[in-house]
Amino acid sequence: MPTSKRLASLGNAVFARVDAAKHAYRVETSSSARPDLVDLSIGSSDLRPPTVLLDTMASAVMDPRSGSYCLQAGLRPLHAAVADWCRHRFDVAVDPDHEVQFLVGSQEGTAHLPLALLDPGDAALHLDPCYPSHTGGLHLAGASSHALALSPEQDWRPDLTALSPQRWDQLKLFVLGYPHNPSARVGNQDDLNRIMATGAQHDVVIAHDNPYVDLALDGEPPSLLQAPNWRECGIEFFSLSKGWCLGGFRLGFAVGASPLIAALRRIKAVIDFNQSLALQQGAIQALQSFPDWPRQLHPIYRERRDRVVETLTARGWSVPCPEMAMYLWFPLPDGARHRGWSDEDAARELLQRSGVALTPGSGFGAGGRDWLRMALVRPVDELMDAASRLADAMDE
Ligand SMILES: Cc1ncc(COP(=O)(O)O)c(C=O)c1O
Repeated sequence: MPTSKRLASLGNAVFARVDAAKHAYRVETSSSARPDLVDLSIGSSDLRPPTVLLDTMASAVMDPRSGSYCLQAGLRPLHAAVADWCRHRFDVAVDPDHEVQFLVGSQEGTAHLPLALLDPGDAALHLDPCYPSHTGGLHLAGASSHALALSPEQDWRPDLTALSPQRWDQLKLFVLGYPHNPSARVGNQDDLNRIMATGAQHDVVIAHDNPYVDLALDGEPPSLLQAPNWRECGIEFFSLSKGWCLGGFRLGFAVGASPLIAALRRIKAVIDFNQSLALQQGAIQALQSFPDWPRQLHPIYRERRDRVVETLTARGWSVPCPEMAMYLWFPLPDGARHRGWSDEDAARELLQRSGVALTPGSGFGAGGRDWLRMALVRPVDELMDAASRLADAMDE
């Protein structure tokens, strides 16, 4: 069947690939004595949102209006709640009508934004490694995408000296995000301020993906909304998936310069009619009544992080302590290197031998080659057991 060149340019997405491997493992395991799968390959929280929020959504589902399409005007209460949250969280006043847009998750927003801004061949910059929707969105728009390489030597910070004024002049869009997935580094406001100011100077849109803004365990996470020039050409993406543990509900939003919000809206008007009003009720309640919920998760993630790092380190693995919740990001253990395994080989072999699914680093771009990511999305005892299984499998 004929398919587009665009489709070919998307490659084989890492989460879909790992999903297939997990499925195969589950099928094989059902008829053998192998241990059950422990899925640490995706940042899907095992923690729970406030119960009352689920109750609100459940009863709102019974309201016939929840079954109707929700066009832009219907989003007003949600957009007002986002504006309140921005005031509470960043002490920034935003216009709910023109500077906010509800999204089907921040992944959707970051993937669709390039369609609104770029013509085929236009130059755009992304971090490498980065979250796959950042590069995926650029491919969908036919952009000429360029990578700003991150490295452990630079502690996964963007090397802004690598970007000359001429380079900035060629760009139309720079997509990035700190706290950074997969490196689990928090980033800093000075770097983001500099990026935003330079973007404004060179007329480059800065799209900052910030679903982990309240999940930094060490340090202060940056936000574009605190960069002085964001209203010139900045847009920031937020999510209820991580901090409020609502990943499956697909609730996110963008806050940004009004022309960017208007452009994104026009793309979305072709593609979707927004999430149900019932889900919006949950999002409103999360932002208004539980704005500090994500911070309550810190002690849980801190314990998970510290215990798993301790366990793996005691087994001879080199595991840098992550600054943000949810992920460990570490180089291939020596046992994998000695066997000549790539990160893809290591993730596959470790799944087969231990039943623990990790994400191969190269799925986030060439800059993630020879690294692995573990999502800390199971209770601490299960995580420590999984860490021991991984180390045993490597020592076999
Ligand atoms: C950087 C980044 N952006 C976006 C997402 C997806 O967020 P959402 O569930 O809001 O689409 C993730 C999920 O892991 C992420 O790490």
